[in-house]
Amino acid sequence: MAGLAVNVDHVATLRQNRGTRYPEPVAAAVLVEMAGADGVVVHLREDRRHIQDRDVRVIREIVSTKMIFEMAATPEMIAIASEIKPHLVTLVPEKREELTTEGGMDLTRHGEFVAKAVAQLKGFGIPVSLFIDPDPTQVELAKQAGADIIEIHTGAFCEASTEEEKKKRFAEVLAAARRAKGLDMGVNAGHGLCYQTVGWFKGVSEIDEFSIGHSIISRAVLVGLERAVREMVELVKQL
Ligand code: PXP
Repeated sequence: MAGLAVNVDHVATLRQNRGTRYPEPVAAAVLVEMAGADGVVVHLREDRRHIQDRDVRVIREIVSTKMIFEMAATPEMIAIASEIKPHLVTLVPEKREELTTEGGMDLTRHGEFVAKAVAQLKGFGIPVSLFIDPDPTQVELAKQAGADIIEIHTGAFCEASTEEEKKKRFAEVLAAARRAKGLDMGVNAGHGLCYQTVGWFKGVSEIDEFSIGHSIISRAVLVGLERAVREMVELVKQL
């Protein structure tokens, strides 16, 4: 059965928008776990636009499931990871001007650089996942780079505007997941997944864990965080 990791970045987004002390992402992490999620995800961006250093440290301390630390492969972030020792690091590409992580890592261009970061993190005893597009070449390169897990970028699938395009994009996600399993890697999936799109994964056994943030936090504004997480946990359990 697949798991669900919930990204609480957007609780921090709301706080940072007004420069207040609330809403508290640490409280969100507690509620997310109480509602049955298998992990809490935070992305500490270089520009600190949502999650702050203190959030990462406190959430790492209080989680009872697992804490997944999303980060760019920079010396600054590697140093923070080495100190806080998350249960998993997911390396993502990061551009200052983007609204959210817009694409997977390009291991064709940056494979060597990423492999060095993976080796460093694994040297600290931290398992590493690489966020990549659903492309078989990227899957092979992730294996070569030493990743334990890949996280498949589901953005193109979620954003596809026609049924035909959606099917095509979903087939790519599935093929990448199967390739990774064939290479004995763990497989996570995320970005843009919501209460509708997650149902596409019914009967797909290759995904170990879904990583979902925006749709859950958005629903939480209307129905409360515990209910929003529980509803997604139920959907994931039924897959
Ligand atoms: N996985 C990764 C690597 C991400 O960067 C994000 C976005 O922060 C997510 C999953 C979650 O995406 P969403 O917020 O669209 O559910």
